[in-house]
Amino acid sequence: METPDSVSIPKQPAHVADPVALPVDEFIEGVRKLSEGLITKQKMYEFLVSYSLRREDLERYKHWNPDRHTRNKIFRNDMLEVMIICWPVGVKTPLHTHNGQLGWMSMYEGKLLVENFKKIRCNAPENEQVVGIDCIAGATKIEMQHLANELAVPGGPLNTVDKTQTIHRIQNLAEWNERAVSMHVYSRPIDSCVVFDMDAQTCYRRDLKYDYE
Ligand SMILES: [Fe+2]
Repeated sequence: METPDSVSIPKQPAHVADPVALPVDEFIEGVRKLSEGLITKQKMYEFLVSYSLRREDLERYKHWNPDRHTRNKIFRNDMLEVMIICWPVGVKTPLHTHNGQLGWMSMYEGKLLVENFKKIRCNAPENEQVVGIDCIAGATKIEMQHLANELAVPGGPLNTVDKTQTIHRIQNLAEWNERAVSMHVYSRPIDSCVVFDMDAQTCYRRDLKYDYE
């Protein structure tokens, strides 16, 4: 049940954010302060539409691999991690979970298509009964529902993941012919996620690493 290659692309979202660009140290200090209190989806959202990383500091976190996206660490503590992801033209993530994390994505360059999904059922639901991660994975029959697509652009609404919306796939469409750069904040940090192969009807855990840190 892989989705077809032609995907519906939402229209250009409204411009909602004109963040103040901060040097990396100040930006991280703001994020760190938030990590010391109760982290809510709304609080971090407001921070990320109010403040961004200034251009000259962004540059040093940009590293490119022509075949896939790269994860470039800016900051990590026990409560949250911040990274820059560089998306070459035409790359696409597999369908994956976010472990029930909260996550916020703000765009710096280009645009990204986010396809949201919801798991309806699988044949290994007992594998979700585990501490510290969302699921051990290992199902061999999976039913997934495609929800709305989102278009993420600089200045637009942030794309988020949360406890209810945890499965998605992100791509930088080849037809746009433009690289994309996004900032991702996750709480708490995770080092693996579940990846779904809907053609093969399997899911498995994949380790997540930084390409540059
Ligand atoms: Fe994701």
